[in-house]
Amino acid sequence: MLDQIKSLVQEVQAAQPASAEELEVYRLKYLSRKGIIPSLFEDLKQLPPEKKKETGKPLNELKQLAEGKFKEWSEKLSQSTQATSSGIDLTLPPVPDTLGSLHPLTLTRYRIIEIFERLGFTVADGPEIEDDWHNFSALNFPENHPAREMQDTFFIDRNPDALLRTHTSNVQIRLMEKQRPPLRAIMPGRVYRNEAISARAHCFFHQVEGLYVDRHVGFADLKQTLYHFSKEMFGKDTKIRLRPSFFPFTEPSAEIDVSCFICGGKGCNICKHSGWVEIAGSGMVHPNVLRHVNIDPEEFTGFAFGMGIERVTMLRYGINDLRLFSENDVRFLKQFKPVF
Ligand code: DAH
Repeated sequence: MLDQIKSLVQEVQAAQPASAEELEVYRLKYLSRKGIIPSLFEDLKQLPPEKKKETGKPLNELKQLAEGKFKEWSEKLSQSTQATSSGIDLTLPPVPDTLGSLHPLTLTRYRIIEIFERLGFTVADGPEIEDDWHNFSALNFPENHPAREMQDTFFIDRNPDALLRTHTSNVQIRLMEKQRPPLRAIMPGRVYRNEAISARAHCFFHQVEGLYVDRHVGFADLKQTLYHFSKEMFGKDTKIRLRPSFFPFTEPSAEIDVSCFICGGKGCNICKHSGWVEIAGSGMVHPNVLRHVNIDPEEFTGFAFGMGIERVTMLRYGINDLRLFSENDVRFLKQFKPVF
């Protein structure tokens, strides 16, 4: 029996269970109730007392060795399965959190607000789901105006009077319904048109509307206000140009162009070699519009303008594709820092 114990000590020392299954085989073989070591303890009981003493000690040592080995291996195995099953290596350096930045359209909107606030303009807001009156009729659009037709406007099936606003001019009406002149406000917001998406058009975009109604407001005020805005926004050497135009809600109406600050007016890709880029529509508020909101056009006059925020942003940062604004590509978005 002593020889058997000796060779078992060697066996146990050499054993290297590499998995939970192999460890279980090891336990069953040496330590379980029917395993070799407990059965040797049974045999020990049969030995005469003097033999018991000399065999008992090495047998106990074998038992301790086998149990110690079992404990050691089961700890090792459970540690390594924990690490691999969670898939996390806690020794690796942490991935730093990235700080977000403001969207370029937000940066431009903030800048526009900042410029007009200093001229005493407040900021107003209105609904994106609008009715025909506020989006069209109150703004003096005749019944048969093409802008009302399905190809431009998103109407809502269940309610023929509900639509997605096609411009921010609806807020002019909502504001004048609630407030009496004098009023001076800008109204930034999202607008919708049923257009195919391309580098130059999208089914939604952003505008900022401006409105100034008071006694004795004239075309010179419109021109000076937008001239001041353009210099603040694009640089002090910027020039503006007004071209006659038509909008149902203004009379007279004008498109506002700014001199191309990329090429200084010499001609480049951005201005399509004309030296000028269009940034807004504008005009003197049509008397019918004032009448629709119970403001007497004999007493009050006003000017209004509507500017595309995407257009201004593209000029400001040299962006050449409108789709970039709504794709949420972080490689694009993270490039914009405030340029105040
Ligand atoms: N609402 C016009 C558009 O979306 C832009 C515009 C033109 C607004 C002239 C105005 C304005 O307030 O006076 O095309």
